[in-house]
Amino acid sequence: MNQKLSPNLPLVQNADLEGKVVLVRVDHNVVKKGKIADPFRIESTIGTLFHIVERGGRLVLMSHVGRPRDKKTGNITVSDATSVAPIAEYLEKKLNISFLTPECPATERGIVDPGNTLKDAVECLKKREVGGVYLPNTRWFAGEENKGEEREKFAAMLASLADVYVNDAFGSWQPHASTYDVARLLPSYAGFLMQKELIGLDAVLNPKRPFVAVVAGAKYDTKIGPVRALFDRADTLILGGVIYNTYLAARYNAEITGVSDEEEAMAREVISLDEKKGKILEPRAVTESDVADGRVEGKYRTVDLNDIHNGGSYKYFLDVAPTAFEDPKLKSAIGNAKTIFVNAVMGFAPHFTDGSEALYDLIDQNEDAMKLYGGGDTLATFKELLPGAYLDGIDEDTYYYFTGGGAVLKVIEEGDPYALEPVRALMESGK
Ligand code: 3PG
Repeated sequence: MNQKLSPNLPLVQNADLEGKVVLVRVDHNVVKKGKIADPFRIESTIGTLFHIVERGGRLVLMSHVGRPRDKKTGNITVSDATSVAPIAEYLEKKLNISFLTPECPATERGIVDPGNTLKDAVECLKKREVGGVYLPNTRWFAGEENKGEEREKFAAMLASLADVYVNDAFGSWQPHASTYDVARLLPSYAGFLMQKELIGLDAVLNPKRPFVAVVAGAKYDTKIGPVRALFDRADTLILGGVIYNTYLAARYNAEITGVSDEEEAMAREVISLDEKKGKILEPRAVTESDVADGRVEGKYRTVDLNDIHNGGSYKYFLDVAPTAFEDPKLKSAIGNAKTIFVNAVMGFAPHFTDGSEALYDLIDQNEDAMKLYGGGDTLATFKELLPGAYLDGIDEDTYYYFTGGGAVLKVIEEGDPYALEPVRALMESGK
């Protein structure tokens, strides 16, 4: 991957950081129930953090964790479950730097007015009483996702803390105060992870062919855009998860428990397009289960697609059966691919993981292809099912792991790595 970055993107390596307070937006959204689930995203930003410190910058970090805001009421739950404290502790050990994690008064609408807590913390940083500051979860602040004055004030307050802004939060593609607005108020630069991800995206947008894409998801409606875009871009498209159930229900006019008529109707568009193109490759066997919430002996079975009758009725399809990956057509498509993009957990974890294991294993056997994995769940499943291949992949040139799944799908839909709004804000800041 030797592609160049856009000359309009300001890069952290070109910034004057000596003695500057550097506000760094990272995507350290790795805390589940107050514990670090997988530090991959933290580790991926260490290069940028080290660089800033080595160049004389003073670190003020910020990230969102989880979704503490209730979409309906707008209320924000400030609790240990979505605190950045475990991340700051992790970084203290990694970087041998002490991090101050200031606490701000919160209401049921989250942090509306932090008072002087954040300014005071940055003063300690300037006096070198601490090595770094890790701000509270950005989504605890009322102004982060809101529109209007509250958001403008929050962005201005963030900007007032620092001299320079660096965005290394590739996965945080939504334009919020901490990812977008603040870039318009300070000299702003892309961190090394952001740069690497933008280059990685080029391999998906301009793939060596044949290009096989595998996409799955829990709901068809959230993935229509990416499925359509991948259908257009890939030579072969393989579906998994609930998306595949929806596709099968529509394609074979079958009734499958859990698939709604609305979703089925959405799948028809791509099915009719495929009549001419023939790009969708169906794994020809699935695992049907009588119960949705567990793997109960005697209550699940393999169903061959050849046996799915028009108008037939089925219980839950909870996985692609591993035998499906023995199909010579599928083996040849994956075995001969030059680029493979995977944003897919094939079955209903944690009980039905055989399909994902068989898929990832088959992909791993293609040593020459550029294999790009994206999405927290996809990477976590890959790591759990095939830890050896996953760990080898970290160091291999033929593997690439994106730190953000939604961000990659967004770019695939837009067709341009620089279309992500936080990235655009960096480019505009450089002008
Ligand atoms: C992610 O985990 O995909 C990113 O951190 C973005 O999180 P979000 O989907 O809650 O915005």
